[in-house]
Order: sequence, then C-alpha cells, then structure tokens
Amino acid sequence: MANQDEADQGRDKPLLRALRGEILERPPFWLMRQAGRYLPEYLEVRRQAGDFLTLCYSPDLAVEVTLQPLRRFAMDAAILFADILVVPDALGQPLNYREGEGPVLEPVRSVAELSRLDMAGLHDRLAPVYETIRRLRQELPPSTALIGFAGAPWTVATYMVEGGGSRDFATIKAWAYGDPDGFGELMALLVDATTEYLEAQAEAGAEVVQLFDTWAGALPESAFGRWCVEPVAEIVRRFRKSHPEVPVIAFPRGAGVLYAGYAQATGVAGLGLDATVPLGWAAETLQTGATLQGNLDPLMLVTGGEPMRHEIGRILETLGNGPFIFNLGHGIIPATPPDHVAELAEFVRSWRA
Ligand code: CP3
Repeated sequence: MANQDEADQGRDKPLLRALRGEILERPPFWLMRQAGRYLPEYLEVRRQAGDFLTLCYSPDLAVEVTLQPLRRFAMDAAILFADILVVPDALGQPLNYREGEGPVLEPVRSVAELSRLDMAGLHDRLAPVYETIRRLRQELPPSTALIGFAGAPWTVATYMVEGGGSRDFATIKAWAYGDPDGFGELMALLVDATTEYLEAQAEAGAEVVQLFDTWAGALPESAFGRWCVEPVAEIVRRFRKSHPEVPVIAFPRGAGVLYAGYAQATGVAGLGLDATVPLGWAAETLQTGATLQGNLDPLMLVTGGEPMRHEIGRILETLGNGPFIFNLGHGIIPATPPDHVAELAEFVRSWRA
C-alpha cells in the first residue's frame, strides 16, 4: 500500500500531470540553467570543485548545486546538474572547459577519426551522474519532479566536429552536406549513446528527460529533417519502448516554423519553445499536439520588475489555457539578479490564485 501511495503521489507531481496533457490551474515552472553562475552559492561550490567537469562527476557537489535553486525558489522540478558534453567525454573525446572560452575538444572530422570513439567506457565514466540522480530522488520534496537530460545528437555533434562553440558551423556542415553517409555514422553512434544514457538516467530515477537541441536553428529544412528530427525520433522510439512511463521533452531551439509538426514527427510529449516563437501561433498550431514549455526571454529576467511581469503575464494568458510548463526560452545568464528569479517565481505561483 505504501508503495502504491508513493506511486500515486509520484503521478500527481504537477510537472508530470502537465506532461500528460492536463491543464493545471497554475502551470508548473522550472528554469533552464536554474543551477549556475548567477547564484553566489554555486560559485562557491564551483570554486571548491576547481574544474567544471569535476563538479559534474562528483555526486556530493552535483546534488548540492542541483538543490540550491530549489531552496531559494521552490521550482516544480529539479534538473540534474551535468552537461550535454559528458557524452562525447564518455565516448573517448576528452573535454576541457576553459574559463571564458567555453568547451574545447580535440575535433572529430572524418570517418577515420571516429575510430577514436566507442561506447565501451560510456556507463563507467557516467556512473557518477547516475549516482547523483539516485541521491536526488531521496532528497527532493515529494511534489518536485526530477528531470534528466542529454544533448540532441545534432547539437552534441556540433561541439564534437567544430572542437567547441561555433558561429557558422562551417566544418560540420561541410561534412554533413558533403559526406552524409560518413557523418551519419557519427550521428548513429550519438543516437545509440544518447538512448543508453537516457535509459540509465531513467533507471536511476529521472522522471522526465529533456533533449537539448540548442543549434537546431542552424539547419535548412531538408537537413533539419535528417539531422534534427530523425535522430530525436529514433531516440524517442527506443526510449519509449524501455521507459513508457517517462515523458520526453525536446527543445529544438531556433526551429522557427519548423516547430510545426516537430512533436508529431518525433513523438515527444513536451515541446520547449525558444523566446522568438510567437505565442498566439504556438497556442493555435503547436499546443494541440504537445505540452508546451517556455518561453520568457532570459534577458527579461535580467531586466526584472514591471516589464518582466508584463511579459510573463502575456505568456501565461496565451499558453496557460492549454497544457503548459512555464520556463525561459533559453538558459539563465550569469548576469541575472537572483531577486528577479524570486519575483518570477512569486508571480508564476500566484497567477490565477
Ligand atoms: O541547471 C541546469 O540547467 C542543469 C545543468 C546544465 C548545464 N549545461 C550546466 C552548465 C545543462 C542542462 C546544460 C546544458 C548545455 N550545456 C547545453 C544546452 C542548453 C543551452 O544552454 O543551450 C549546451 C549547449 C551546453 C554546453 C556548454 N556547457 C557550453 C557551451 C558551456 C560554456 C558556456 C557557458 O555558458 O559557460 C557550458 C558550461 C556550463 N554548463 C556551465 C553550467 C553551469 C557553466 C560552467 C561554469 O560553472 O564554469
């Protein structure tokens, strides 16, 4: 009976209800990058850890920074503290984070160079991440859902092929357009690794998983179908077979009008909207097929006050009458005053109250 109660209580978490398509009186909320450099207590732990990857791979510290924003703002979900680039790292492409420079990797740019990568060490390297998830499930308040995540193959591949961040994606496009079969081998490896990584997260206790496709907007229509939609659809197909109870959210940032049809084509339960997606269009065109999530401009959170409240109100009024999760349109930026996050939390929580 106790187990049954626990299971029922789990199902009642507001985030999970919204992802089943329920329209809640007050939409649940969480914020992408809710743990991070805008919080002084994060910077303190980050300093202790020394290196960003050490922080990701130390369950004690990763649990602590995951919980920090919840203590202040009581979001409806925690998102596992890790990074999308732990997957290439665990495939054998070591990763460095340089202060002010972002991630740096020794690039993989041909089928021959793919031989440097394999899945043999994947779960050993990622074991600390699974341990972080197990501990978080013990520590979270009963109504707070735990979100696991991974990068979508296209976005992860951009870092692997470019060797870090990029402005024009010239190198990866040259490979993907010029040698689609060869590039497809890298993408197939990422589909396998990402599916297994998400499955292991669900087994450790993740109740929702999100796929971040931050650079989806870099691709024209035909390539978008092949390199954004199809890999995500394949991951979702496999993941739903092994974990039908765990909903998937995808965030194809910058997809523009290609947001239409994306949820149907991939089978995701939740669709993350970037800040440029028009709200009325989203309500009419997208909300019939998926639970929507988003989409306050993170810079509005830096502004705060009346302009921010006005914009949040507009989002809630337009999307809050369908299945909806309030969030930002991209991650919190380091310049964000924590007081503004408190204002946001207060405003969303008291909406329609
Ligand atoms: O709070 C959370 O959202 C959970 C943790 C999380 C991080 N990164 C921590 C992080 C999540 C979900 C991510 C996802 C991620 N990582 C994405 C997709 C979402 C997005 O923001 O577009 C991408 C593209 C990455 C890759 C990445 N990680 C880059 C390009 C950088 C450097 C740029 C930057 O913002 O500094 C990171 C570093 C990173 N990931 C930090 C954090 C808190 C900052 C590192 C530090 O503390 O020094």
